[in-house]
Amino acid sequence: MSKDETAMPTGMALTHFDPVFRERPNEYLDLLRSREPVHQDRMFDRLVLTRAADVDAIMNDRSLSSDPRNSRPGSFSRVQLGVDETFRPLILHMDDPDHKRLRALVVKAFNHVAVDAMRPRIAEVARGLLDDIDDPSCFDIMDAYARPLPTIAIALMLGVETARCHDFKQWSDGKMQMFNPRRTPEQEATLASCDVALAGYFTEMIQKRRRERQADLISSLIDAEEDGEQLDEAEIIGVCIALLIAGNVTTTDLIGNAVLALLQHPSELSKLLAEPNLVRSTVEEVLRYDSPVMQGTRIATKAMRVGGCPVAAGQTINAMLYAANHDPEAHPDPKRFDIERPDKRHNSFGGGAHFCLGAPLARAEAQIALSMLFERFPKLRLRTDRPSERRTMLNFNGLKALWVRAD
Ligand code: HEM
Repeated sequence: MSKDETAMPTGMALTHFDPVFRERPNEYLDLLRSREPVHQDRMFDRLVLTRAADVDAIMNDRSLSSDPRNSRPGSFSRVQLGVDETFRPLILHMDDPDHKRLRALVVKAFNHVAVDAMRPRIAEVARGLLDDIDDPSCFDIMDAYARPLPTIAIALMLGVETARCHDFKQWSDGKMQMFNPRRTPEQEATLASCDVALAGYFTEMIQKRRRERQADLISSLIDAEEDGEQLDEAEIIGVCIALLIAGNVTTTDLIGNAVLALLQHPSELSKLLAEPNLVRSTVEEVLRYDSPVMQGTRIATKAMRVGGCPVAAGQTINAMLYAANHDPEAHPDPKRFDIERPDKRHNSFGGGAHFCLGAPLARAEAQIALSMLFERFPKLRLRTDRPSERRTMLNFNGLKALWVRAD
């Protein structure tokens, strides 16, 4: 092995469990892109891609699998999700024909029209959360705002009764333990009990809505029909759970990362305060600059070559979305945070068959959250006595807490 190879970050060093990667992912990702853009990470039996062109190609390659059960034992896709014989794939981890059929039915119910109808209710939730901040001189924006907003929004969209929103939030939070491969027995028990509670609650709701439809997403999922096919009860429950796990932590992180980037770049914040219509391009720039999801995962279904490197059937391929967003070949001056960047492209919502179904909702929530926050607190700034810290979670890039003052 050459000297250069021994110096390459690999294994856990390419996850948020590593303190350097967690706080400054580009330190390692830039190194990989410049010296080994197609990197064999033998510890996790995976290929790690850091060039935008390779990331695009892999995310759009429909011959690859998204089902971790097709990967070899010990590979990153299995470790990431703690896959065992009880694993049941959600839409994110399905391949065709199951994926194609399910996705076609879900987009009937969960689309731009449904999201646009939610905008006033999201604004109402945001307003209520801002009203509840009792001490503007010191508060954690993650706890007070960025974390509750997406969970309450999706709860309302699904049709969860207001009185059950608190339980629902607890169950959704507990479910996120599925992304913690180092779960303690206590966290394992929380995950199992939240699974049971969510499935029980959704079953009850589906039965109620079958008797009497409401203007909500569960009713639309019941009614969705494509080529004479409909979703059965287990599929509707699976879709609801997929929406929670794919949509909550990611949108929370987008809002938190956006507030941090703006407060760290006062000239960009001033532009936004002077021209509130820049909120759309601000959200796109945050998605590029500090992407909430680090990587997309695919599994080779046959022996192949990627960027000249051999890949065996069953090996995982990790397309580093974060790294693609910072590739100078795709984004001039990539380290600059520029809310007026002319080219709005980024890889943060993935691509191809599994392109993020919730992108319109995530964008709407983040745009509303930022507009309302800075309208209410134009003097918002960081609390220097309490520096922000990143959370330790595989694949998700967000803040544990973000202490601010608005007085
Ligand atoms: C900033 C917020 C978000 C980011 C960065 C994000 C990112 C992603 C990415 C990268 C994928 C592709 C995964 C893959 O190709 O393997 C994905 C898929 C998905 N996302 Fe999002 N997401 C966000 C918000 C949401 C929201 C709000 C929802 C719904 C409430 C959602 C629901 C989904 C679903 C259901 C899929 C799977 C689609 C499929 O397999 O066909 N996402 N998301």
